Amino acid sequence: MEVVEVFIVGAGPSGLATAACLNKFSIPYVIVEREDCIASLWHKHTYDRLKLHIAKEFCELPHMSYPDDAPTYIPKDQFMRYVDDYVEHFNIVPTFNASTESCMYDEEKKYWAISAHDKVNNKMLEYAAKFLVVATGENSASNIPEIIGLPSFPGETMHSSSYKSGNDYAGKSVLVVGSGNSGFEIAYDLAVHGAKTSIIIRNPMHVMKKEMIHLGMVLAKWHIPLKFVDFVLIVLAYFLFGDLSKYGIVRPFLGPLLLKAKTGRSAVIDVGTTELIKKGDIKVLDSISRIRGKLIEFKDGKKRYYDTIVFATGYKSTVNMWLKSDVSMINSDGMPKNDFPNHWKGANGLYCVGLARRGLAGIANDAGVVANDIHDVIEMVRDEVKIQL
Ligand SMILES: Cc1cc2nc3c(=O)[nH]c(=O)nc-3n(C[C@H](O)[C@H](O)[C@H](O)COP(=O)(O)OP(=O)(O)OC[C@H]3O[C@@H](n4cnc5c(N)ncnc54)[C@H](O)[C@@H]3O)c2cc1C
Ligand SMILES: *[C@@H]1O[C@H](CO)[C@@H](O)[C@H](O)[C@H]1NC(C)=O
Repeated sequence: MEVVEVFIVGAGPSGLATAACLNKFSIPYVIVEREDCIASLWHKHTYDRLKLHIAKEFCELPHMSYPDDAPTYIPKDQFMRYVDDYVEHFNIVPTFNASTESCMYDEEKKYWAISAHDKVNNKMLEYAAKFLVVATGENSASNIPEIIGLPSFPGETMHSSSYKSGNDYAGKSVLVVGSGNSGFEIAYDLAVHGAKTSIIIRNPMHVMKKEMIHLGMVLAKWHIPLKFVDFVLIVLAYFLFGDLSKYGIVRPFLGPLLLKAKTGRSAVIDVGTTELIKKGDIKVLDSISRIRGKLIEFKDGKKRYYDTIVFATGYKSTVNMWLKSDVSMINSDGMPKNDFPNHWKGANGLYCVGLARRGLAGIANDAGVVANDIHDVIEMVRDEVKIQL
């Protein structure tokens, strides 16, 4: 069994940011990743045309900026290079191909007993750690809803995390289920590649341009009340897009920034999708009621044939599958019990980074406060030992 000070689960941006912040205090850690690369979500489960939706100044990891000549909205490849540089700069060496399968707190010995499955050598790795940092992300497993008749669908079905590009879909009928950022952008990508595209929009949502969200974030940073900022954004959206309700896009009651702050739900960034919806190139549909083979039936009675279904229906956290003895920090959905900013600390040296639905800015914040807290606890114990001596 390897004895470590801090054990970090997951080598995505959250785990790496935590490692860098611990590095600044020279606190030793081990970081373990189930895949064979860092930032696996970005390397393996994002589509080609993805760019950060938020301006770069709000997407930095701690202690390292983007190059000055980087564009305001960083493309996926450049983001992955930045993360590579980050790992090199802070000399972070994750243990790859190792999936954490069990973490239990030993009340007697006062440490976390951790088992990880080394998939290459097919053996268990055992660790004992004083501190445990959950950094497995909000996107750990794909979420696909249960739909009556889905197994009878003969065409291709996939989750948005497997979607790369519309290249292979020209001329095909594709249904995108879900209208978050991924669904909205994938529908656009399909349509411009010549697919006959439909999208299901079920819930009210704000549609914004990324520059508008940027403006909102800058105003909010200057402590202008969110209610007022939201009012400005909604007026701008109305001027830009007009009334979208006749296309099935209805605005929520709360404004975009307040909604994000209160529920974690983001406004959807328009990359050209609304224009195609207005032109009729992308059809907006109601929820599915059932599927009979290739024929999909919708709640409003419409029936259509499709070749492919893309489920842009979000993700699930998988923390509860391996975090066995926590009653303090994580709820039954695998997300923090407490709201931001009180979400990141549990009992017995347990922490989480990147689970507050606040993107990369939230990750940078969490990693900083968690490393500071671990540092403080270590110093306190050291002082107590000194006094006893
Ligand atoms: C399509 C898409 C676009 C996005 N765009 C933006 C954006 O523009 N701006 C922004 O701020 N945020 C964006 N996000 C949010 C995104 O969640 C964060 O940017 C970031 O990747 C989250 O980092 P993370 O480290 O918390 O989680 P992840 O990147 O998911 O990393 C978690 C890691 O933990 C590993 N892991 C999971 N379980 C285990 C286990 N049991 N044992 C070992 N390892 C494990 C996973 O393999 C993964 O590598 C986007 C997300 C998606 C899906
Ligand atoms: C991880 O596993 C893959 C195969 O699944 C292998 O190619 C790779 O070399 C492994 N990486 C490490 C660091 O063990």
